Amino acid sequence: MTTSLFTLSLTSEVTLIHKDDKIILQAPIRTALKKTTPTRQVTFEHPQSGLTSALNHLQSSQKTRDKLRALVATNDGDAAAEKFDAQLQQLINIGWVCHSVFLLATAIPIVETDYHFESPEIKQLEGKFTLSRFAYLHQHQGQAIIESPLSQSKIVALDWRCAALLAQLSQPQTSRSLSTEIPGITEAVAQEFLALLMATHMLSSQPETTPLMYWDFHDLLFHSRSRMGRHNHPSGGTMRFLGKTEPLPIVKPAMSDKVIKLVRPDLEYLAQIDIPLTKALEFRQSIREYNQQPMRVQQLGKILYCCARIKKIETMETEDFGTLHLNYRPYPSGGAIYELEIYPVVNRCQGLEAGSYHYQPLEHCLYQISGWNSDVEELIEEAYKSSGEQDRPQILLVITARFGRLFWKYESIGYALILKHVGVLYQTFYLMATGMHLASCALGIGDSDRFAQITGLDYYEESSVGEFILGSVR
Ligand SMILES: Cc1cc2nc3c(=O)[nH]c(=O)nc-3n(C[C@H](O)[C@H](O)[C@H](O)COP(=O)(O)O)c2cc1C
Repeated sequence: MTTSLFTLSLTSEVTLIHKDDKIILQAPIRTALKKTTPTRQVTFEHPQSGLTSALNHLQSSQKTRDKLRALVATNDGDAAAEKFDAQLQQLINIGWVCHSVFLLATAIPIVETDYHFESPEIKQLEGKFTLSRFAYLHQHQGQAIIESPLSQSKIVALDWRCAALLAQLSQPQTSRSLSTEIPGITEAVAQEFLALLMATHMLSSQPETTPLMYWDFHDLLFHSRSRMGRHNHPSGGTMRFLGKTEPLPIVKPAMSDKVIKLVRPDLEYLAQIDIPLTKALEFRQSIREYNQQPMRVQQLGKILYCCARIKKIETMETEDFGTLHLNYRPYPSGGAIYELEIYPVVNRCQGLEAGSYHYQPLEHCLYQISGWNSDVEELIEEAYKSSGEQDRPQILLVITARFGRLFWKYESIGYALILKHVGVLYQTFYLMATGMHLASCALGIGDSDRFAQITGLDYYEESSVGEFILGSVR
């Protein structure tokens, strides 16, 4: 058994056209924003019978590379076979050719340039192998797919035995041990399946070294899928829910009937007395200790107004997407969508009852969700613990994201974008707090499930994605 027994086929996106005295292969080019744009073509001029037959087989039946080459050699001669082999390699390199362990699994390229697929030598398949900790199996559009952020391919499992093989490969296995465990899998098939996993970087390389060993499974998957590169999913502002669902409103419906109006600061006056930006940047630091006298509700109002209020709402008519409603706030946000919401959780604040609130950025007011209770106390306690247990925060700003508002437009990069927005908002709060002589500190961790329970928010609709603590300076 040799590993060149993989059978080859064109990916489903490639069409084969016989035209005049030519054979044209063409496939859509995928771009980041749109699923398909103009096509890319590879043309075979004046194909002889062997080449024609080999290309037809590549489209419609599963033959090995050796068999395809032999077909060309027999009909068109050795020189033509040599040329065909080089052309086939080019088709592989641009990601147009699938490699299969036929009837068990197919590796489909997910990149369009520089696709590397090297069939391992038999001797490389001697010994024991384990599934990579980055490989995973999931259902997608009715198929069982094996993927990994280390791979340029996805493997479609064509048979339930694939899942059985993967399960066995959680422990080191040889092709022989695999074949004794699973009915219908011979040692030769097990070896070919191992070869397919090896060629697609789905097997573990032991011992794992730097830099890979630093990566968590979910971090590398998130990184690879939210950047362009090793995947062919549409990414960016694809507006995938346009015409399917209505975008969520800019402002959330009121969360209670207890409204606390906040004072609007005089921005012109502030512009005259504020410290310069360079000073704010230089003096900014994370402060986790507070004065006995807590900060005032006017200060909370000022920081929310200066950092996070809605300054302007605009309606834009577009040719492609109809009417879009945009809004503008002091901090920047992708697509002027602003999916982040702010929930002040108050421990001690002059002029404001302890409890939890939602900030309404258009009316510049707070809606009280609850008074002081054990859940609110627990949130403050968690923030106290994750800020080094120096002092209990006077105010904890819990930042949530209304996922649907952003995901309506952005695909693949949505969650990454949210975390970027949280960072942007953190720094805006930091600089404003510095200018206001308030103690402030970002937090890196918080319990989204607990916050969902406390507020009654649906975890999938709107969850906490950041926390920021505030208080008066000691
Ligand atoms: C995203 C982010 C997460 C942070 N998480 C925490 C945290 O969980 N607890 C904490 O006490 N400080 C946290 N900090 C504050 C950092 O510890 C602080 O910025 C760093 O020590 C540098 O100090 P400086 O802010 O005073 O310049 C965080 C800062 C950022 C930007």
